[in-house]
Parts: sequence; C-alpha cells; structure tokens
Amino acid sequence: MTSLTDLIKTKKAKVAVIGLGYVGLPTAVELTKAGYQVFGIDIKKQRVDSVNKGKSYILDISSKELKEVIKNKKLAAFNNYLPLKKANIILICVPTPLDKNKNPDISYILSTTKEVAKYLRKEQLIILESSTYPETTQKVILPALAKNKLKVGKHFFLAHCPERLDPGNEKYRLKDVSRAVGGITKECTRLAAEFYRSFIEAQVFPLSSATAAEMTKILENTFRLVNISMINELALLVGRMGIDIWEVIEAAKTKPYGFMPFYPSPKCAGHCIPITPFFLNYTAKRYNFWTKFIDLAGEINEQMPHYVMTKIIWVLNLKGKAVRKAKVLVWGASYKGDIGDTRESAAFDIIADLIRKGARVDYFDPFVKKLYVEHRILKRKYLLRSIKYSLKKIKEYDLVLILTDHSGFDYDKLAKKSKLVVDTRNAIKSRRHKNVFRL
Ligand SMILES: NC(=O)c1ccc[n+]([C@@H]2O[C@H](COP(=O)([O-])OP(=O)(O)OC[C@H]3O[C@@H](n4cnc5c(N)ncnc54)[C@H](O)[C@@H]3O)[C@@H](O)[C@H]2O)c1
Repeated sequence: MTSLTDLIKTKKAKVAVIGLGYVGLPTAVELTKAGYQVFGIDIKKQRVDSVNKGKSYILDISSKELKEVIKNKKLAAFNNYLPLKKANIILICVPTPLDKNKNPDISYILSTTKEVAKYLRKEQLIILESSTYPETTQKVILPALAKNKLKVGKHFFLAHCPERLDPGNEKYRLKDVSRAVGGITKECTRLAAEFYRSFIEAQVFPLSSATAAEMTKILENTFRLVNISMINELALLVGRMGIDIWEVIEAAKTKPYGFMPFYPSPKCAGHCIPITPFFLNYTAKRYNFWTKFIDLAGEINEQMPHYVMTKIIWVLNLKGKAVRKAKVLVWGASYKGDIGDTRESAAFDIIADLIRKGARVDYFDPFVKKLYVEHRILKRKYLLRSIKYSLKKIKEYDLVLILTDHSGFDYDKLAKKSKLVVDTRNAIKSRRHKNVFRL
C-alpha cells in the first residue's frame, strides 16, 4: 500500500484543482465536502478573487455554499502554481476548445502541464479531467512530465478521468454521476479510481488505459451529436411534409425499448458535445481514417442556424414583412434552458445574421445579461443587453424567436401576446396558436 493510498483513505491528501470554471469549481467544492483540503488555481485573477470572497460565478454552485467552504478554510484559490508544491493530487480542468480550423487546441493543457512538471515530485497523482483527443495523456502529458527523472507508475501517477458534468442538472449532481478512469499504468488506474471512489457516490469504472478513458468521453459526446443531428435532419424533412416532429418523437418514446428521444434544436451547442467529436476526427486522420458520421453530424449542426433564419424569413413573408426593419425579439441566448452558458450558442449566428439583414433585434435571457455578437463576414462586433421581462411589450415585436426554453415562463401566454413566433424548442405546447411556427 502506498502512502498516497493512505492519504486518500483518510482524506488527508491535499488536492489542487487547476482551472476554476464550470468543471473545476464544482469539483473543488465537492472535494471539500468529502473532507479534502483543496487549492484552486486559475490564471484569471478575477475568478480567484471571487472564489476567495465566496462569490460564485457558476450557476451550479451557490455563493452560500462557496462562502461556507472558504470560511471553513477547506478551499483557497490562487493565481499562481505554488500550491502544486504541497499538493498530493492534481486535477487539470482547463479548457480544450477547437481552433479556427476545427482542430483541437490543447495549448491550455500544455501550459498547465509545464507548470505541473516544475513541481512534480514522488507520490503525486496527476489527473486530466479536460476532454481531449485520444492519446493526449499518454503521448503529450506523459512525455512532458517524464522529462523529470521520476518514473510513472512507480514514483508518480498519471490518469485521465473525463468530466461528465451537466450544468444545471439538479437530478444528477457531480457526486451522483458515475466516472470512467484510465491510468498510464495499472497502479495509476488503481489510485485514481480509489480517489474518485472517495468522493463520488456513483460507480467508478476502471479502464485499461488513459487512451480508452479519453475515447469513452468522445463516444459519449459523438453519440449525442450524431443523434441530435439526425433528429434535426428529420425535423427539416418532416417540416416540409407538414408533419409535427415533436408529436412523432412523443409517439416513438412510448416504445419501451430500443428508442431514446433526442430533440430538434437551433444548434447542438455548449463546450462539449459539438466539440469533442472533432477531436476524434483529428486523431482519425493520423490513422488514414475518416470519421464520416462526425463530419456529417457537424455539417447538419452548423446548418441549423441558417435553417432557422430561412424559417424567420418565410414566416415574416407570410405577413408581407421583410426582415429589413422587422422588430425581432430573440428569446434565450444560452445554449440550453436554465443556465447562463452561451458557448457555441445559435444565438450568436442568428442575431448577427438578423442584424446584417437590417432587422432591429432585442434579446431576452434571465441568465445572460449581456451578449457580444460578432459577425463573421462583416467582422463587426455588437454589444446587446437583455431587455427586461415584460409580456406587455411583446406586442411591439413583429416576431418572437424562441431559441432557449428557460423554465418558469408561461409560453402559452407568450404565444397569445405575440404577433408571430418561431419556436425552435417546442416551448409552446398547445397546437391551437396559428401564429406559432415550429422547427
Ligand atoms: N462545461 C461543461 O459542461 C463540461 C462538461 C464536461 C467536460 N468539460 C470539459 O472540461 C474542461 C473544462 O471546461 P470548463 O467548462 O470548466 O471550462 P471553463 O472555461 O469554464 O473553465 C476553465 C478555467 O480554466 C482556467 N484556465 C485556463 N488556462 C489555465 C491555466 N493554464 N492555468 C490555470 N487555469 C487556467 C480559465 O481561466 C477558466 O477559469 C474542458 O475540457 C471541457 O471540454 C466541460
């Protein structure tokens, strides 16, 4: 038994969480609840200051919850990497976006690994939680750490455990979601699995390698992207045929086996699902392999905002209106309901396009106070601020475009008060409103 095992068993291990965003902050807080002493590290000073003041900027963590762990001195945030010296376990939760050419940008992982390498010592366990392309842990992180004379699996331990967080999901919070863990060596896997079992209440599933764990995350996200894109394609077809896709999905759902519902949307967005499948696309080409399902799903997904635009033009045309000078209210800017995350949201493309076509656009989102919209072709930036919620004012708009179905609003009333509605989420359940047009 290594002393790291003892430190995990007794919760005396000190844990550093690098990257205090949607994944890192909830993880840091969960670890403190399990009894660990946690150091949070972030390059954004503003975030570090907020954490230390107990002010949460992540919806899933309340400021009350954060204040409590700061007050108990279980969590402290830092704008430098010095805590890595003391840390027994280091979690890397930094962003992994795609670059402009849709290739993985692992620069955040690389810069973090460089810092970890500086402080690497015996009996440290390093775990990458960021989603990434298969072989990153084995072929990128390990060589950067192994420059040190320490041997992996013997002196230090390295594993990948992809985060499965679903922001805003109150049913499945971090500790309730099972985890898949794969290490570079068997001992790396064993220790990492032991660590997750110490604070995750759901199953911890050990894999034979870090690469298999990376692939697991990509499978999960590709499964969603391909299925969402498939239902979006069907929505486009059956819309032409006068069939209500939402009714069809409800009917298919009644089958007790072999069917899982996916719903149309103006774009499958967020920081994970539309991104990680393209990590695999990138890796596959190195093996002279083309992941055609992923390409096709990506293509359909990117076309969805254009399709929504076409629908807007068509609906306005029914009333003899042009997009130019039309007053449009975009309802919802975040990529899904009840959260404030706008990453990859359809709102950006659609609002920019509406402005470009001369529409007068306002938006309403209780979770997103302001929005910077950049037009890719015009290379112009617009700053929009959410209007205040008022059903009375809805009549002033020629068209209301529902992009996000935040809960707690009376969508039936919204339909009644609106001149025209394009509803991309089936937020308006009743089929009696003749002014409502669905995706
Ligand atoms: N957001 C999700 O729902 C979700 C779900 C599952 C997995 N993931 C994955 O988790 C990873 C993190 O995502 P996120 O949503 O938390 O991102 P985020 O942008 O919300 O947070 C990342 C944080 O890392 C910080 N950071 C960047 N570089 C740093 C560095 N070198 N040192 C220290 N801090 C640094 C940033 O300032 C930021 O606060 C990504 O790989 C993502 O794909 C995200």
